[in-house]
Amino acid sequence: MRTKLTVIATELDLSIASYLRKFSTAEKRRERTRRRMYQISELAESVGLSRATLLYYEKLGLLKGKRQANGYRVYSDADRQRLRLMQQLQSGGLSLQECQACLDGKLDRDMLGQRLDRLEQEIAEKTRSRDLLAALLGQSSLKDWHEELERVAPDLHRAWLVSQGFSSAEAGLVALVSKDMNAHDAYIAGFMEVFSDLDYWGPGMAEATRRALELVPFVPETILEIGCGPGMATMSLAEATTARILATDTAEVALDKLRARIAARGLNDRIEEQNVDMAAIPVPERPWDVIWSKGSAYILGVEKALADWRALLRPGGVFVFSDMVWRTDKPDDEVRAFWASEYPAMATPTTRAAQARRAGYRVLGHFDMGREAMDTYYRPLAARLEALATDLAGSRVLDDLRREIAVHEAGRGQFGYEMFVLERG
Ligand SMILES: C[S@@+](CC[C@H](N)C(=O)[O-])C[C@H]1O[C@@H](n2cnc3c(N)ncnc32)[C@H](O)[C@@H]1O
Repeated sequence: MRTKLTVIATELDLSIASYLRKFSTAEKRRERTRRRMYQISELAESVGLSRATLLYYEKLGLLKGKRQANGYRVYSDADRQRLRLMQQLQSGGLSLQECQACLDGKLDRDMLGQRLDRLEQEIAEKTRSRDLLAALLGQSSLKDWHEELERVAPDLHRAWLVSQGFSSAEAGLVALVSKDMNAHDAYIAGFMEVFSDLDYWGPGMAEATRRALELVPFVPETILEIGCGPGMATMSLAEATTARILATDTAEVALDKLRARIAARGLNDRIEEQNVDMAAIPVPERPWDVIWSKGSAYILGVEKALADWRALLRPGGVFVFSDMVWRTDKPDDEVRAFWASEYPAMATPTTRAAQARRAGYRVLGHFDMGREAMDTYYRPLAARLEALATDLAGSRVLDDLRREIAVHEAGRGQFGYEMFVLERG
């Protein structure tokens, strides 16, 4: 009777025997390959090069075939392997001469280091292109790509979005808000559901509006407000001045709220509201005394807004805008990472003031709008997100806005809103 042990031993013998058989077969095959000699056309075919290329390599001394008695050249498998290695080195960016030096064991470490750096750059570029194609096919998120393009080439980014059928105003929202052209409409619908119920669409308060107005060195007769949102600043401007105001925005939800405010206060004769894209504001017959942009210039890009909107102001006219700014040059990692993706162009007040001067303005003043201005925006926003937590469960809108609030809490003092008052020079 066979014991269990005998059975195991027999099975082991069999498997060892079969392994040895396989091993020796593979070894024999390798040996045959090693000994195999190739005619030039066979060699060319096996490495995917032309016969002429191999003859050229012969001429350069990169390849040395053995001439047979019948005059034909033959090549060994070592020659084939050498060619394979050369092909890899070449696709790593090495010239034929550099390949030859490498194969002859003369390693130029500096040259190889440079080729490696270049190769890594090329791989990074290819990876970005690959990600773009995958994103365009809906196989991955477009967020990183939109952010990257907005950082390195914002004008091109928006122009490309317009070429894909978005209006210029929508392109701005894709670039800065939804960051996903495939899911843009759904994102904005959720976003508007949150904001339709809020009075402040950005940090600010009446006190900051009054303080900025005090820096304006004349009594304004006309004010153009850009990106007015639901019109809280519009109302403060109407109360604090006697100017005629044109309040503009592209969000009809916001303009509806503004219309209701204008009607409720009987201000129809002084305030007009219009749906106007900030990237295409018509040049007025009579240039504006004051242009007001509370928390909206970043959408066009502050530097572009400084340049483009200057042409709409009369000489000596005043441009007032508020913007999120850095208050430290050493933010916490989380805060830095958040703004690097949400507002990569965010600058310090000093940088913004210098940009204004370069664009042809005199800086009449700028000030920190303070903690209260931030809370005026973030507190109701947080409460609104709570109220919509069930309706918007799982949506990116909820995650994105919650993250912004968390960063606002964690990063107090590291960033904030600044108001700038500039005179057109
Ligand atoms: C951060 S909110 C500020 C709104 C308002 N000034 C406030 O502080 O409550 C930016 C505003 O710009 C508007 N906006 C976005 N893209 C725009 C565009 N291309 N042209 C005009 N307004 C735009 C938005 O609808 C929104 O009302």
